[in-house]
Amino acid sequence: MKKTFGIIGAGNIAKAIAGHLLKAGHKVIISSRKDPAQLKETVDALGAGASAGTPAEAAQANIVVLAMPWSQLSTLTGLTDWTNRIVIDATNHFVTFAPDFQVADLGDRASSEVVADHIPGAHLVKGFNTLYFKVLEADPREANGNRVIFISGDYPDAKAEVKATIESFGFSVVDLGTLAAGSKLQQAKGPLAAINLIKKS
Ligand SMILES: NC(=O)c1ccc[n+]([C@@H]2O[C@H](COP(=O)([O-])OP(=O)(O)OC[C@H]3O[C@@H](n4cnc5c(N)ncnc54)[C@H](OP(=O)(O)O)[C@@H]3O)[C@@H](O)[C@H]2O)c1
Repeated sequence: MKKTFGIIGAGNIAKAIAGHLLKAGHKVIISSRKDPAQLKETVDALGAGASAGTPAEAAQANIVVLAMPWSQLSTLTGLTDWTNRIVIDATNHFVTFAPDFQVADLGDRASSEVVADHIPGAHLVKGFNTLYFKVLEADPREANGNRVIFISGDYPDAKAEVKATIESFGFSVVDLGTLAAGSKLQQAKGPLAAINLIKKS
């Protein structure tokens, strides 16, 4: 079924994910801290089915994708009633970028567990965070196989829906289990970060 996806963010990862969603026939609302009119060039480049909104408007969509900096997570809390909403967390917990790429100290917690604190009641699925955006945006059908996307989360129905959506783009999805366990494997500095796998059929 074709759906509307709201993306919080309008940068590299937002555009990479939006490209796949639009190709699959979904609608996409991208958003940022800017006035939506200032995203016109990005919307035009994405093409038919894309529009710009405020983060609050994007957060009303059937499924919401988080593609924003880690430092901005606290802005999510009041955007909508997150209860039962499917949210895909594509963020990484970087607090500095090149050349040192430091991550936030989260103690024993997985980064997506911290994200979940900001969107109470949401059915969170971590995904799309492991690949460099240029790899993510490329055709996932490569070398007679399908590029792998890792997901993790605590809500089976949400994971099933996210998995089916991502597979419809041509990726192969590997479910790593719960948010607490899986997110630690796929998050920044985890063992699966930046691993570009092709699953051979
Ligand atoms: N780049 C990669 O290859 C890559 C790969 C995997 C995961 N990630 C993760 O994906 C996330 C986005 O990375 P990116 O590379 O796409 O960054 P980016 O190109 O800098 O884009 C970030 C976007 O978020 C918007 N934004 C910032 N604060 C916001 C807020 N409070 N509400 C709504 N939108 C906001 C920015 O627009 P304004 O500043 O105009 O608001 C911008 O459009 C990060 O968590 C990153 O760690 C990145």
